[in-house]
Parts: sequence; C-alpha cells; structure tokens
Amino acid sequence: MPKTGTKAPPAASRKASPSKSDKTSKSDKKPAAPVTSPPSGGSANNGSGGTLDVVDGRTRKEYSIPVADCAIRATELKKIKTDNPDDTGLVSYDPAFLNTASCKSAITYIDGDKGILRYRGYPIEQLAENATFLEVAWLLRHGELPTQQEYEQFVHDITFHTYVHENFRKFLEGFRYDAHPMAMLNSSIAGLASFYPSARNIFDETERNISIVRLLAKTPTIAAFSYRHVKGLPFVYPDNRLSYVENFLSMIARMSESKYEANPVFARALEILFILHADHEQNCSANAVRAVGSSHVDPFSAVSAGVAALFGPLHGGANEQVLRMITEIGNVKNVPKFIEGVKTGTGGRLMGFGHRVYKSYDPRAKIVKRLADEVFKVVGVDKDLEIALELERIALSDDYFVSRKLYPNVDFYTGLIYRSMAFPTDFFTVLFAIGRMPGWLAQWEEMLLDREQKIARPRQIYIGPKERQYRSKLSAK
Ligand code: CMC
Repeated sequence: MPKTGTKAPPAASRKASPSKSDKTSKSDKKPAAPVTSPPSGGSANNGSGGTLDVVDGRTRKEYSIPVADCAIRATELKKIKTDNPDDTGLVSYDPAFLNTASCKSAITYIDGDKGILRYRGYPIEQLAENATFLEVAWLLRHGELPTQQEYEQFVHDITFHTYVHENFRKFLEGFRYDAHPMAMLNSSIAGLASFYPSARNIFDETERNISIVRLLAKTPTIAAFSYRHVKGLPFVYPDNRLSYVENFLSMIARMSESKYEANPVFARALEILFILHADHEQNCSANAVRAVGSSHVDPFSAVSAGVAALFGPLHGGANEQVLRMITEIGNVKNVPKFIEGVKTGTGGRLMGFGHRVYKSYDPRAKIVKRLADEVFKVVGVDKDLEIALELERIALSDDYFVSRKLYPNVDFYTGLIYRSMAFPTDFFTVLFAIGRMPGWLAQWEEMLLDREQKIARPRQIYIGPKERQYRSKLSAK
C-alpha cells in the first residue's frame, strides 16, 4: 500500500467558466513548378521564407520549392517526376519520422540540444516549481494560464466528474488478479466511449469540453480502481473535498479512515511529476492520439491509443523497465559489468537513458533528481538509488554514451520516487499516463481544429512481389 498519507491536505478550490479553443487558419500553399531558367539561388533568409532550388539529376529539370518555417511541404516533392507515365512523383522516406513535421503546434516547445522544454512558452522549471497540475492542464489546452474564476470553475468541473459508472466495477472485476494496470487503463479509457456515445460529436464544443473534463477527472479514478483490483482491496470512491492529487492518493491508499490525509511531500512530489509529464510535443503517444483522432473517432478511443503507445518500454514503459533493470543489477559492484553488456549489445539498453529529441540532459530529469532527494529525506535513502547514481556516473563519462549524446531522461529517476512511495513497479506507467492526459487532449483538440489536418495516412514504398497468379498450395479446402 503506498505510504503516502499523514497530513491533512488543503481543500480544492472550485468555481466555473466555459472553455474556448482557438482555430488554426489554413495556411497558404505555393506549388513547386519546374523552372526553365537557372534558379535564383534560394533567397538568403533565416529559414522563414525563400525557396529550395533543386535540380533533378534524372531529368535535369529544375524546381523551386517554397520554404516556410524551415520546412518544405513533402507534397511539393510529388511534382518532381520523370517522363515515365507510371512515375507518380517523389515521396520523402522517413521511417519513424526522424525529420518530418506532421503538424504545426503551439502547445509545447523543445530545444533538444539546449535541454529546453516549455509549455505554451512557460519554462518547465517555473511550472514545476509554482503551478498546480490542473493549472497546467488548462494552460496546455487554452494557451493561457487560467484566471482565478476559470481555474475555480475548472477545478470544480474536474472534481465533480471523478465518479465512474457503477458498471465499471464489473468491468474491472473481469480482469485477472495479475492483469497489468496499463492494460486495464487502456481498455477502460476506450470503454468510456460506450458510456458517453454523444462524445462522438467532436465538432460540438460543448461535447468536447465535457469529454475533456471527463477524461481528466476519471483517469485517476480508473487508475486507482485498477490498483485496488490487483491488490484485492475494495474500491475507494472519490472524495470531493480533496485536491486532484490528494483525491487520487486517497483512492489508492485509504483504508478505514473517514478522510484520507496525504503526506504533503508525497502529494506535491506527485503533482510535480504529473506536471513534468503533462506534454512533450509529438512523441509516440501524442502522435498515436493525433493519428487515431484524425479519423474523427471520439476522444476516448483516440486517447486510449495514446495509453497503448505509452505502455511500450521505449516510451512511458521505460520507468518500469528502469526499476526492473536496477533490481536485476542488484548491487553497485555489478554496474560496470552491466554497462559493458549495454555497450557490446549483449545486455540490452540502458533504460531511462537516451532520447530522440534531447541531445543533452533532459530538463525534466534534472527536476526529478532534485525531487528524489526531497522524497528520500522523508522515506530514507532508497537502496537502489546508489545503483542508479553509479549507472549515471559511469554512463556520463563513458565514450559510448557521450559520443551518442545519451543522457538520463525523465524516466531514469521517476521509478525510484514512485517505488519509495511504495507504488508497485507495474503501476509506474499508469502514473505517467495520468500526467500525460492533458497533453494528449490538447494535442487531440489542436489537431481537430487545424484545418490543414486530414486523416493520417502515410505513404509507403512497396517492396513486395510483382503481380503473380494464384495457385493454391492446399491439397484440401
Ligand atoms: N542504451 C544504450 N544505447 C542506446 C540507448 C540506450 N538507452 N539509446 C540509444 N542508444 C544507442 C543506439 O543503440 C544507437 O547506437 P548506434 O548508433 O551505435 O546504433 C544510438 O544510441 C541511437 O539510438 P536510436 O535507437 O537510433 O535513438 P532513437 O532516437 O531512435 O531512440 C529512445 C530514442 C528513447 C527510444 C532510445 O534512446 C531508448 O531506447 N532509450 C531507452 C528507453 C527509454 O528510456 N525510453 C524513455 C524515453 S523518455 C520518456 C518518453 O518520452 O517516452
């Protein structure tokens, strides 16, 4: 049972105001056209305009492709083709989107080289230090910090939508005692679509508002119910007197007491972790939410795709894997051997290290490391912290990691904090999912209101057999 209790929490404030979302306007498109005269030489600029002038070596034709925001539109490449009538034009080939922007977004900014992360322009360090999670959730969606009135209404709305339909009890009870809580969360979030069929009216702002409130409010309840199911404990219903994080901790840990009192250090630590996880621009799960949402399915179905993506060990599931890795290492003296295994490829990856975007220290990891110190002051030093520190020390000085710019990411230390609060290892990614929910929802809505977006449908390069005649290999059917 998570040891998160001890002291009375401040009461959640409440009040109201409706939400608004801004529409993105259709941007200009200029076609790439073959040019007969030599190109003008792509006007000098800071990347916000001009052209990319290219010569197709196959045909010697020249093309002038507009550049905007340091980008060319991949559809412009389609116009570059040979005289072969079967040639449908060039495509860009970019497995795993290494260098492809799939959208314009105003939500989160990352500078991976400098280790900068900002939500709507606000540095993550300032938000983690001063903001509440629900304030950040509002900010991510609306682009501005809430006024007092907006905040109180938002907190009120979230607080009063924390209950789930009683049928959810039966639904969750159907899972086996050892079901992974991410599998339960994923299917439960998808299951919400069956309770709220009108959520399919995604272009009705009122419906979007209520769906977003429901997802933010009910995710902690479902997560806590999953936890209690696995533990064989009775479900604890939401307590509307408590703040978002304290209510979650109450649903997790409350036993016979009439009101759960969360330890303020744990409650604030969890709130900061939720803030740090709240969004991370076009990561695997946000991309999944956008891709699935682009079919105009309801938000519960779209967001469940995000939960599924997050489950993977290369994404949010890494926090669970870090702890399993540390447990496997077992002792600080085994760290050099483990690192050797990582480098030679015989021992798997160093989980919690490396990032597609950050090529310096993940700014979230810095905050998490400091937070770990505060939590360990309360619970005593985690025995595995020593192993983690030694892994980090060796990795940061070893050429294998240095040359590949592999630094600790947000997941390296979060597991240690969660474990020190006595959360079971397979529950760690659920905590990540609760934190990421506002980001998924903001990304989903931004995608929906972006008039440039269409159903996500990448191209492929077909490498299979040419046409052949069907001849069955079966002797009987
Ligand atoms: N341990 C050892 N080697 C690594 C690691 C690692 N954790 N990460 C990358 N590398 C190596 C990789 O083998 C490759 O080496 P080489 O050039 O010799 O082939 C090089 O670094 C580049 O790796 P990559 O796989 O091309 O990088 P990527 O951008 O596709 O992958 C990543 C990013 C996060 C999936 C990867 O670094 C990784 O698997 N890390 C461990 C899992 C992890 O901690 N995930 C959480 C990410 S942060 C939370 C979140 O936002 O999800």
